[in-house]
Amino acid sequence: MAPTKTILRALAGETLPTPPIWMMRQAGRYLPEYRATRAQAGDFLSLCYNSELAAEVTLQPIRRYGFDAAILFADILLLPQALGADLWFVTGEGPRLSTIQSDADFDKLGGGEMIHDTLNPIYETVRILRRELPEETTLIGFAGAPWTVATYMIAGRGTPDQGPAHALKAENRALFEKIIERLTESTIDYLSAQIEAGAEVVKLFDSWAGSLKGDDFAKYALEPARIITQELKSRHPDIPVIAFPREAGEGYIGFAKATGADCVAIDNSVSAEWAAKNVQVDGCVQGNLASRHMVTGGDDLVEETRAIVKAFSKGPHIFNLGHGITPDADPENVKLMIDTVRSGL
Ligand code: CP3
Repeated sequence: MAPTKTILRALAGETLPTPPIWMMRQAGRYLPEYRATRAQAGDFLSLCYNSELAAEVTLQPIRRYGFDAAILFADILLLPQALGADLWFVTGEGPRLSTIQSDADFDKLGGGEMIHDTLNPIYETVRILRRELPEETTLIGFAGAPWTVATYMIAGRGTPDQGPAHALKAENRALFEKIIERLTESTIDYLSAQIEAGAEVVKLFDSWAGSLKGDDFAKYALEPARIITQELKSRHPDIPVIAFPREAGEGYIGFAKATGADCVAIDNSVSAEWAAKNVQVDGCVQGNLASRHMVTGGDDLVEETRAIVKAFSKGPHIFNLGHGITPDADPENVKLMIDTVRSGL
């Protein structure tokens, strides 16, 4: 049966009169209602594992703005935690994890079915959302791509250049590849369980794909995305996959074809015109307004939003930012972006 929800129609390759829209990090600190629920939950991880409250913050931007899709509220670092890594967040600084530097560290990790013991509350959030979301809203599940998740697991924190992960790859390639393989397998199981709970689309976030070049990009960004997509397609043939190899540059070209992904999300380091010519030729694209417009607003926002809608108007397109919205954004600017997209060309 042909899909009726706008996001699913775009993902099936349909060119719509106005693109459907959602926003990365749409549930987040720029919204006062998010900050209130987060304070009620305690810390960020308690919010992720509290299914009722995680569903509540997922619904907040849908109520406020009527986005075409909701994205499950969780984090890409919950999977390493489910594999046995310690995880905590330092306010104002970001995530911290126990590091993997040796075979002995790796051997402490679990795998297989045990991940669900930790991740069950996330599947419960998905079930609640499928009951509570408006009929026309698509529910997107997600996971981090193996390379991006590995960069945090190896360094034990976020790093500007992913130096520790590149160093391990150079010094102990066998161990590095074992980490990528374990994450690839667990990501398949994690996304599959989200789909079984009710996720209608899944997105793979490879936020640090841009630091992999040449052969490394093919082996550690493209190949894991291909394996994950192919295995999900064999288990759940009707569920579309969005791949986000952020800052891949020329690596975006042919990414959908090579992996089997239904859509490639584009960051704002490339122009919409370039992406229309080089990436949208293969199918649906998502993106790519710079997040700073959600802080600055005004005519710049309107003009750039229109330019992106126009550049992608000849093919299937889902409007989004090029990366997540930042905490200093003005909620009014989000409304201006949505109104501009929906008012048509
Ligand atoms: O998009 C959404 O609204 C869905 C939820 C979501 C979050 N994180 C919630 C979150 C998603 C899809 C993510 C993905 C994620 N998490 C990525 C990939 C996408 C990207 O942004 O590149 C990465 C690298 C992470 C890891 C992570 N989580 C970091 C580095 C941080 C700290 C940075 C910061 O902004 O403080 C987080 C925390 C986090 N994840 C927040 C939210 C809403 C802020 C936490 C808070 O409320 O204090």
